[in-house]
Amino acid sequence: MTIYLDNNATTALDPAVLEAMLPYLAEHYGNPSSIHTPGRVARTAIDNAREQVADLVGAHPTQLIFTSGGTEANNLALNSLATHGVATFCVSAIEHPSVLEPARQWQAKGWKLELVPVDTNGSVNEDAALEMLQRQPTLMSVMMANNETGVIQPLSNLAHRAREQGVIVHTDAVQAVGKIPVDFNALGVHLMSLSSHKIYGPKGVGALVVDKALDIPPLLFGGGHEKGRRSGTENVAAIVGFAKAAELAQQQLEQRSQHMLALRIRLEAALNTLDGVHIIAESAQRLPNTVLIAIPGIEGETLLMSLDAKGIALSSGSACASGDTEPSHVLRAMNLDEELVHSTLRISFGKDSTQAECDAVVAAIKELTQMSQQMASVAW
Ligand SMILES: Cc1ncc(COP(=O)(O)O)c(C=O)c1O
Repeated sequence: MTIYLDNNATTALDPAVLEAMLPYLAEHYGNPSSIHTPGRVARTAIDNAREQVADLVGAHPTQLIFTSGGTEANNLALNSLATHGVATFCVSAIEHPSVLEPARQWQAKGWKLELVPVDTNGSVNEDAALEMLQRQPTLMSVMMANNETGVIQPLSNLAHRAREQGVIVHTDAVQAVGKIPVDFNALGVHLMSLSSHKIYGPKGVGALVVDKALDIPPLLFGGGHEKGRRSGTENVAAIVGFAKAAELAQQQLEQRSQHMLALRIRLEAALNTLDGVHIIAESAQRLPNTVLIAIPGIEGETLLMSLDAKGIALSSGSACASGDTEPSHVLRAMNLDEELVHSTLRISFGKDSTQAECDAVVAAIKELTQMSQQMASVAW
């Protein structure tokens, strides 16, 4: 049995979510745009789902546009605004590629892009961001929590300051939702991206939450679905699954996050007793489930594959490029020591992770560090 501790990459579908979805994959196959009974059954399911997902983040159902996931929600936010007047982007350097890449595409077409730097603890540098806000960018995008480090960003303060300056604020809340409380209105943002498969829902569905005062012109044209903001026949079963996952995430938020935090504390206490293991951004405020470590001397991909061979699924912060491992843009932006950035591993707990799994990963990492130390002494 695989020990799966890669829940920031994706989560297992909750059985209750699957059960909620099945009728919409089988008997309730009506097109929600049809006005006959089967169509109306599907439409009602979407309406209910919209209320449920909106409720998870304290938004109004009319503020929600269902998308094919977090990537589309991020692209919709940036591209839609860029095609309709946004001239300057101010984007944190540690955003997910689905924010950074659209911003870079617009930069290549002549739009201005300023990257907000982060400190070595992976937190957006507030002074630098506030200084950029003085130059009145049209859009600022700062994620709620980073997927690699788990670091929770100082978004609320920045969003309120940005609003005062008339700057539109987008946040990618994909990793935060279901792990920490998220309140669209209290945060003061105009746009928020969500994804279902990070909260035990199906893949391929997400949403963009949009402030009522903001006009989001569509990128997909056609039948005028989602009140004309995103055409395409709705993925009813996935939307229903997303809503069930949202309902459970809301009900169980406290319990899940306490459980994951207890595992994180247990893991970090054990790792801190091992020689040659560094916990990255240890002192920063982080998601309860995420631990990023570095084991200098062993490449991240080697660590990953060695653990995979032991049946443990984790992520590494670097990817193989031309035979060499290239650290992620997040690690680069943090300006960490060179020996650390090439040797990172991310452990991300889920709601069903266990102490036994936590202890198994510690034992496996201990073995790897001992091997690496032996190899280093032989090399000498
Ligand atoms: C922070 C963040 N934003 C966006 C995404 C993309 O979401 P999706 O996989 O639903 O397209 C991810 C997924 O890894 C993510 O971690």
